[in-house]
Amino acid sequence: MKVQGKQFESIWLDEEDSGTVNIIDQRYLPFEFIVEKLTNIEEITEAIKNMHLRGAPLIGAAAALGIYLAVLKYNVSLPFDQYIVKIADTLKASRPTAVNLEFSVEYVLNKIIKVKDQNQRIILAKKAAQDIIHTERENCKRIGIYGLSLIEKLSKEKAGKPVNILTHCNAGWLACIEYGTATAPVYMAFDKGIKVHVWVDETRPRNQGARLTTWELSQHGVPNTLIPDNTGGHLMQHGKVDLVVVGSDRTTLNGDVGNKIGTYLKALAAKDNNIPFYVALPSSSIDWNLENGLQEIPIEERDGDEVKYMEGKLNNAIFKFLITDSETKVANYGFDVTPARLITGLITERGICKATKNDILKLFPEKIN
Ligand code: MRU
Repeated sequence: MKVQGKQFESIWLDEEDSGTVNIIDQRYLPFEFIVEKLTNIEEITEAIKNMHLRGAPLIGAAAALGIYLAVLKYNVSLPFDQYIVKIADTLKASRPTAVNLEFSVEYVLNKIIKVKDQNQRIILAKKAAQDIIHTERENCKRIGIYGLSLIEKLSKEKAGKPVNILTHCNAGWLACIEYGTATAPVYMAFDKGIKVHVWVDETRPRNQGARLTTWELSQHGVPNTLIPDNTGGHLMQHGKVDLVVVGSDRTTLNGDVGNKIGTYLKALAAKDNNIPFYVALPSSSIDWNLENGLQEIPIEERDGDEVKYMEGKLNNAIFKFLITDSETKVANYGFDVTPARLITGLITERGICKATKNDILKLFPEKIN
């Protein structure tokens, strides 16, 4: 996607130095656009854990490139398989909810674990990581094509008046490689000349909506309005939301969706107001081993300081401000689970389906045991 007219993806291998991974450092957006260079597995793990980058597909891509960098740097006395499995385990534990992390690490590991020749390992790890990036990019594009049909239908029903879409967190191109998941249909509709407008939840406490989604939509010229997290229900009651589209960090086989904390409340409000609630996700965000989201999706708990402090810009510098008493006790759950019964449909790279095991497996028959 374009940033000030220049084409960017959210992660890429350096053209001049194949031992360097470039990322857009999301900690500084929307104030500053900084590209960070990561050159080893420790830096990749730190970038994932402390959210220099975030969003399920992007975390997966970064982890895959992290394994590649670890292979590249292998020169210790430990046998290769022990070395790489230890690294893979640390990486997988860095953020527990997005299943893409496990998926990508296992994908690259399987390609290299039995290979004896070091040069061959490097070539295979690099190719595996690049395959993941390519697949995620293509899958988001396809999600966009399928999701577009929903927006086109609503636009016709509204006789060309703007289609109002509400989204939560950032499931845009910054969270993926390109296009985004929830935003892909929006970008496609906008590019086709369909009138759209996005209500962006600020998404406390990290404010991915306020800081990232508004920024990337505006960079592309898509009309959007930032709202506090508790505004969606009011807008829905007053006919100001036509469609809700969110992303997913881990969706179970029966269609329960783990996504950014607060998603569940939006689904409840949408149900109460008869508004379609869709989840856009690539198959890399489906956990084929789980069937009960509420009980089985691991929910990340993060540092309470993320809630107690707000971050903002003052006199050209980024500051953190304490907004509570310093002793205030905090609970900071990163994600929640929206039960399948509240979801109108899943938009995947293979098409739109109901959030049921039966319908998901119809699109992905190779996953039937
Ligand atoms: O904690 P984050 O920012 O890594 O959370 C991920 C997300 O941005 C969302 O939950 C998103 O909707 C799913 S990833 C496209």
